[in-house]
Amino acid sequence: MINQNYLHIPGNYLFSEVAGRVAAYQEAHPHARLIHMGIGDVTRPLAPAVLQALHRAVDEMGREDTFHGYAPEQGYDFLCQAISEQEYAANGISIAPEEIFISDGAKEDCSDLQELFDQNCRVALCDPVYPVYAECNGMTGRAGQYDESAGRWRDIIYLPCIQENDYMPEIPREIPKLIYLCSPNNPTGVAMEKDRLQEWVDFANRTGGIIFFDGAYERYIQNQNVPHSIYSCSGAKTCAIEIRSFSKTAGFTGLRLGYTVIPKELKRDGRSIHRLWKRRLGARRNGVSYLTQRAGEAIYTPEGKKQVQSQIEYYKRNASLLRQTLLDQGYTVAGGVDSPYIWWKLDSETDSWSFFDRLLKQAHIIGTPGAGFGPGGEGYLRLTGFGSYEAAQVAACRLWEL
Ligand code: MLT
Repeated sequence: MINQNYLHIPGNYLFSEVAGRVAAYQEAHPHARLIHMGIGDVTRPLAPAVLQALHRAVDEMGREDTFHGYAPEQGYDFLCQAISEQEYAANGISIAPEEIFISDGAKEDCSDLQELFDQNCRVALCDPVYPVYAECNGMTGRAGQYDESAGRWRDIIYLPCIQENDYMPEIPREIPKLIYLCSPNNPTGVAMEKDRLQEWVDFANRTGGIIFFDGAYERYIQNQNVPHSIYSCSGAKTCAIEIRSFSKTAGFTGLRLGYTVIPKELKRDGRSIHRLWKRRLGARRNGVSYLTQRAGEAIYTPEGKKQVQSQIEYYKRNASLLRQTLLDQGYTVAGGVDSPYIWWKLDSETDSWSFFDRLLKQAHIIGTPGAGFGPGGEGYLRLTGFGSYEAAQVAACRLWEL
């Protein structure tokens, strides 16, 4: 009776497991002042421009002449238009508003898009990477058996992103049909430069694959050679779907807003992927609230732009402080430059869950064990810069005392 695929997935979702261990520790040590650097959840309040837009939208919902019911299934024109102009046209990329699908977050689309494709399509993903990609394919049976002790799915093609290859996924020998790329990568914080991304685009076009390009952290990019969008690469419109989020861009983890770009040119088996996704949304979702979409639009106003940029700078300062602290201690560290994440390489004998426990108990710092992001993450721990600057300073001192 039960979908058997659900019996193979790991017992807990990574961040639920972390939250459970932290709650148990806090209960046993109520006076411990824990510093939360585990899940990448934002802490700065919403930007004033966003707040004002929300208030205005709430008032509109309370009047008969400006009330809004169901939202259009692809999103309101005002938001699609703003994204098309400001995220793409302003950067020399042509994406029409109709190619944009507003969503209630990148996670939802990252996990659902694979349902459009045949069960036999091989999946490739970076290792380590955001665990959602593997698990959603596990739930539909495409990932095969999960080997708990090795932390691997049998049928997934893992693309190691480790220190030895500068954390860059390399084109595999086996040919995948569905390729998940996350740049800047969660958790390593390392971003792909244009030439490298172009190789993936060329590979996907040559082999008939599709790239799911997760750009949730694109606002953190500062390296000029790193593209913010996969559509900066030539030929990307015939092989790539881009997924973005307002969560880390503008603090919407609680509001929920994201978008997915599916170019009209993208076809497989002669079918438009855009049309299939639209069809799916019609049956499965009811759009994102008017309030949230008006809030999202506000980040494209001149004040909104400045305000969200300063939030990003704030988090980047934290990341930079943590990165520098670890480097000064002689550790090998990736990320923390084009990303809010710091990827901390542990001493070779240390497994990441044991180190997570030690960091929690001895320094009262919560990180995320690297093994939770895939087998290639073993021996690493991820810290986030999403807390307050004061907390980052205290954490830096505690790291010296560890
Ligand atoms: C993370 O910590 O990796 C992310 O915040 C999780 C998420 O975005 O769902």
